[in-house]
Parts: sequence; C-alpha cells; structure tokens
Amino acid sequence: MTSILDGHSIIPVVAIEKVEHAIPLAETLLSGGISVLEVTLRTDAAIESITKIINSVPELIVGSGTVCNEKQFKLSQDIGCKFIVSPGLTPSLLDLARESQQDFLPGISSASEIMLGLEYGFNRFKFFPAEALGGITTLKSLKGPFGNVKFCATGGIGAHNFLNYLSQDNVSAVGGSWMASSELMAANDWLKIEELVKHAVSLQSISV
Ligand code: 3PG
Repeated sequence: MTSILDGHSIIPVVAIEKVEHAIPLAETLLSGGISVLEVTLRTDAAIESITKIINSVPELIVGSGTVCNEKQFKLSQDIGCKFIVSPGLTPSLLDLARESQQDFLPGISSASEIMLGLEYGFNRFKFFPAEALGGITTLKSLKGPFGNVKFCATGGIGAHNFLNYLSQDNVSAVGGSWMASSELMAANDWLKIEELVKHAVSLQSISV
C-alpha cells in the first residue's frame, strides 16, 4: 500500500490555535525544508487553517490528525486533506478508509490493534504514544511478529531522539510537535520554528 507520506520521514504535528498562524507556519516549514504537515483537529481553528493552507500553499502536503470518529474523517476528506491520521483505530474508520481508498494512517498501541489493522489491509501505523509505550525497545519487539509492518512513531519524539527512531528498519517516519510547538506559534516565533525545522532536516540528511 503506497502513501503520499512515502519518502517524508519527519512530519510536524501541530495544533493551530489561530487561523492567522496557518500561512506563516506553512511557509516557514517549506523554507525550512519540510513539505508535509499534520494539523490536529484539536482546536477550533484547525479546519479553517487546513483549508487556508490547501488553497494558498499548495506545495505543502497537508493532512488532518487526531481524527477519532467518522464525522471528523469525512470532514477531513471534504476539505481536501491529502492524508488522515488517527491516534487509534476502529473498525468503522478502517472501513471508511478502505472503501474510499483514503490515505489513512491509523494509530496502534498493541499487537492486537496491529492485527486488526492488518485484517483491513493496512500495514503502516502510527505508533502512539511512542515514548510512553517503551519506544525503540517496543518497536524492536514488534518486529518479530510483524516483520512487514512499518511505523510512524509519534508521542515524545524530539530533536534528541528522532534519529534513533529513524534508524530502526521498521520505522518509516517520525512525527511530533517539537519543531512547531503551540508556544512558539503563539509567540509568532517563525524564525525559531524555521531553525528547529532546518536543524531536524540537517541531522536527518547527515545520518543517511
Ligand atoms: C500527537 O498526535 O499528539 C503527536 O504524537 C504529538 O506528540 P508530541 O507532542 O509528543 O510530539
């Protein structure tokens, strides 16, 4: 199963509180060297922000995150999200994604959830919350029974540990809020965000 996220190994995960932050954020990510963004549906400004970015910054691949129910899933599709991420998985979301052939990254935190996702034809999952679940140790253990499964690790990932995750052969990507935190966006500190993005991109390119 291919995904628009293929080849994107660092995914900023953001909670946009103000719609006016959407475009500066999108432009900052691009100028820092990242062309993918997950906007979580945790704020009132999320839907309008995603729409604005899709319309004004088409170079950025934007998806929705924290999608927990069918309503949020369908709304994400309606506004043109290129991918949809959930912290977990339910039969109804898996069904919906499969039927509509939507690029969907379901979340898992156990072997049983991976098995349910596999039953629906998925073989890539968000491993969340990665650090709290044992991080790399757990990912290494999951490799035994689930050798063909790839993970996007999120939750507790930052500049200090993301390369360790990416060096695991069952990890295709990492996601996190460390580059564009809510605090930095509230302070309109786009320079700092750009610096953190560039730092992550440069560390990653040195390691490959
Ligand atoms: C999430 O979906 O909440 C992401 O995993 C972000 O987690 P973080 O804030 O720990 O990076």
